[in-house]
Amino acid sequence: MLSNLEALDVAPVWHRLTELAGKLIAKERDAQEACRRHRRLVAQQRQDALDTVQLIHEAAVIGLTRAALGLRSVPDRPHLAFYHEYFGWTDPLTEEALAALGDLQIACSEVRANGRRSGDLLDYYLPPEWRKRLGQHWTPSTVVDYVLELTMDDQIGRTLDPAVGGGAFALGWLRRLRGSRASGSAEFVGYDVSPSALAVAGLNVERFHQVNPMRAAARVRLECRDTLRCFADHSEQLGLPWGDEQDAAFDYVVGNPPYVRVQHIRPPELRDYYRRSYPETATGRFDLCSLFIEAGYRALVDGGALGYIVSNKLLTSSAGAGVRELLARRLPLRYLTDLGDTKVFGAAVLPMVIVCRKRPDSASPFWYTFVSEAPEDVPSDAPADPAAAPLMSVLLEFRRQRTERRAVVPAHTGRRSGAFRVECRETTLPTNAVAPWHFTDRRDTDVLDTMKRNSVPLRDICVVLSAGIKSTADDVFCNPVTEEFLSQHGIEREYAKPYIRGANIRRWRVTWTGTVAGEDTYLLYPHRETDGQVRAVPLEEIPNMAAWFHQPENYRRLASRSYVLEASRRWYEVWVPQKPRYFTYPYKIVTPDFCPRNTFALDVNGWWCGGSAYMIVPSEQSEAWALYLLGLMNSTAMEYYHKAAASTFIYAKRYRYTVAALGTYPIPVPAPGIVDAVGTLASRLVASPGDDRLQRELDEATREAYGLRRTQWQTVQEAARAW
Ligand SMILES: C[S@@+](CC[C@H](N)C(=O)[O-])C[C@H]1O[C@@H](n2cnc3c(N)ncnc32)[C@H](O)[C@@H]1O
Repeated sequence: MLSNLEALDVAPVWHRLTELAGKLIAKERDAQEACRRHRRLVAQQRQDALDTVQLIHEAAVIGLTRAALGLRSVPDRPHLAFYHEYFGWTDPLTEEALAALGDLQIACSEVRANGRRSGDLLDYYLPPEWRKRLGQHWTPSTVVDYVLELTMDDQIGRTLDPAVGGGAFALGWLRRLRGSRASGSAEFVGYDVSPSALAVAGLNVERFHQVNPMRAAARVRLECRDTLRCFADHSEQLGLPWGDEQDAAFDYVVGNPPYVRVQHIRPPELRDYYRRSYPETATGRFDLCSLFIEAGYRALVDGGALGYIVSNKLLTSSAGAGVRELLARRLPLRYLTDLGDTKVFGAAVLPMVIVCRKRPDSASPFWYTFVSEAPEDVPSDAPADPAAAPLMSVLLEFRRQRTERRAVVPAHTGRRSGAFRVECRETTLPTNAVAPWHFTDRRDTDVLDTMKRNSVPLRDICVVLSAGIKSTADDVFCNPVTEEFLSQHGIEREYAKPYIRGANIRRWRVTWTGTVAGEDTYLLYPHRETDGQVRAVPLEEIPNMAAWFHQPENYRRLASRSYVLEASRRWYEVWVPQKPRYFTYPYKIVTPDFCPRNTFALDVNGWWCGGSAYMIVPSEQSEAWALYLLGLMNSTAMEYYHKAAASTFIYAKRYRYTVAALGTYPIPVPAPGIVDAVGTLASRLVASPGDDRLQRELDEATREAYGLRRTQWQTVQEAARAW
């Protein structure tokens, strides 16, 4: 980074800032030291220090961006004051940093462009973890044009982007306006909480106007606001001087709102504020993008349209239930495009485009499109074209023609070209709006209905269906904890548990030795269950384990988990300890949390499962029944069910295996002899996991258990070939 800055001739100021950042980091260390005495205070101090370093970077980005684009004027200071107020700093070091930043901006404004694009500059200079906190990812113009084409009519109207970022939608809107014959005045309003993102957006718009003089009166207004506060459903003030007044009545709301999971929202009071202000969508382990859907709904006029890029997890996650309810009843879908693993842009989640209309409705059909990368061995239906069309244009063309189809087409996303599997058709929502949504065609629905007939959901016949233990400090609790480690440190054996990760679970079997660091280890578990409550074991009772926890690096790692302290827990606790009794049942079935195919194994050794594994403890604890369930769960029929109706596709052809998905597995009420037939085959497969002939026999036995006809079985097998 430094060499680039030297090229811009701002190195002296940068050095000063780095020095300040160093002091702040030292301050953070002091704060850690004070931690033993003032836990809460310290979490705050540490946050202040980190936020100040963020400020330094943000402002540096603004300055450098202006410089890169060759804009000379020195930006105003108000955005710095904004940070000041937003984070509530009163720190002299911050004051010094602000002054240095002013100098940096002046220095930057004096140097000329170095050819970098503004978005690239942001990518380059903002540390990834801070961008993650604000959900900053830039949207490619092909995706923006796709969203705008589906959302907007010929009218241009009043449009809001509630998370405008670098201005990709503002530019798309301007492009549309330039190409349209719309008359009258049109307004685009963009909000963002990040001054540096807004600075980039402003520069992009300024640039657009320089290069494309426009006839129509087009006003783009960019404002530094917390959108979620603007559209909160009550007037609670957080004592912040901005973003409280409403600016509603938009004809269109478009954008790519941030994907930020609840645990990354800071400060913690903000999470509670969101829960109160967005009671419909801020439920469970919500994601900020859900709240932006509700905010968008509130911002629209009746009959207005919303077009967003959001995470496709909202279709199936339990936290997405509120959004599904909203989309089903009051903001009905017109288009849903699940972009699967196509990686059209660099977001960490798999995106989908939703286009909805604000009006009460529940049953109208909508146009559904699903796209994913085609496996390399699936040839495309069209000849490979080295200059393949952009994927988003192919999808638009399919929508224009309105013919239902499943096709494999050559296309490029800007990042990659190759074959893509596209499936599109008109469909309606499932009748149960709150349950996970899967959009199956008629043939699939027929198979799935047969599987569910005469079956009970797995969740109804289990005592435990749960994810494993999450330590949030694996380097202390489990990674080094081999057999040898336990002896070396004299660890109290009662509190060291044989621990399996997802990677220890193979199809049919678990492999574990307890001797390979990072892979096959024990878990240090300083907890016990009393009266149904899991509590921390006092350190005096486990002096050798306590000595390990107190080693300086380990102590730093454990005590820095501010969320553990905020939850009034002890600093050395495992974050999600689960109940110890879960691991005492003689038979349980385990699975990795995500993998390409059904990968269940029977555990009769009482392994303790980690966070990358799920465990299923059947209520009926017999070997025959456990093997019957295992056989069903590793059958091709159940894998078909999982992929067609229970789970979401992630990437690299992997699927999530979660409580929500597993709980719905249909378990046929067995006809006489079926339990033994399936169970015997399962037990032989445990002994010879790769035996294809046995797997075929198992598939045939489970086909019979489900009562699937030959034609239905063909549908299952066709799908299996395409996986
Ligand atoms: C995915 S990015 C938007 C990208 C934008 N469409 C583009 O391509 O340039 C999400 C944006 O939301 C902003 N953001 C995060 N929380 C916000 C909030 N509460 N109010 C307004 N903007 C917010 C982030 O700063 C970030 O710029």
